[in-house]
Amino acid sequence: MRQPIVIANWKMNGSAEANRLWVESFLNLKADLHCRTAVCAPFVYLSQMVELLKGTDVGVGAETVSVADKGAFTGEISASMLKDIGVTYCIVGHSERRTIWHESDENVAEQAEKLVAQGIAPVVCVGETLEEREAGKTEEVVLRQLRAVLARVPAAQFAAVAYEPVWAIGTGKTATPETAQEVHAAIRAALTEADAAAAQTLPILYGGSVKPANARELFLQPDIDGGLIGGAALKAEDFHSVCAAIDAD
Ligand code: 13P
Repeated sequence: MRQPIVIANWKMNGSAEANRLWVESFLNLKADLHCRTAVCAPFVYLSQMVELLKGTDVGVGAETVSVADKGAFTGEISASMLKDIGVTYCIVGHSERRTIWHESDENVAEQAEKLVAQGIAPVVCVGETLEEREAGKTEEVVLRQLRAVLARVPAAQFAAVAYEPVWAIGTGKTATPETAQEVHAAIRAALTEADAAAAQTLPILYGGSVKPANARELFLQPDIDGGLIGGAALKAEDFHSVCAAIDAD
């Protein structure tokens, strides 16, 4: 019913040579996978990645996008520019963007809207901080972040929702499968309220210290339909092992 997808988020990593080697290794390995895959890379490497992955079923995504269309916005990259070079996915609302660049819920929703207008599918990230979890606010925060995007973009246009608890990102602390499932179920319920049909088919991904050793137990949960992978996506072999944790139906 839902097609699982595992997405690499390279963040600010990579080089022209390393990327070429990564793609070569991953394409050699990927024949046995039972999920869709995509790689989100820094802006400057997106054209290279589109070229390297041309004719394959591995998607290419950006890691953020401007809310502006064009003009005097030094350093920004618009959704139409991403479309122009053949990018098909884009992460929005990653916690690093929300925290370090102070992107608001409204900002994230606008990004998603700009992307969808260009036919690019947003990977919508949500997640609570440790403080918010300890204050019992996980669901409130995650659903507030999600509903802000749903107010502007129909769920059917999303590539995925990615639940990434901030305390689990790059820390080696993974949410237990049960903890993650609880939040994923709440996300599914909120999506169902918005669009019941889309909620059944939209993948909800878990992200935060996913690695080959813990991917399988996470992916076995009923509402975890894949992952958004940081550190473990930097080596093609590790990323392949995480993807291989998705079983055939
Ligand atoms: P890590 O897998 O390195 O914890 O990063 C997760 C993440 O932020 C993916 O977007």
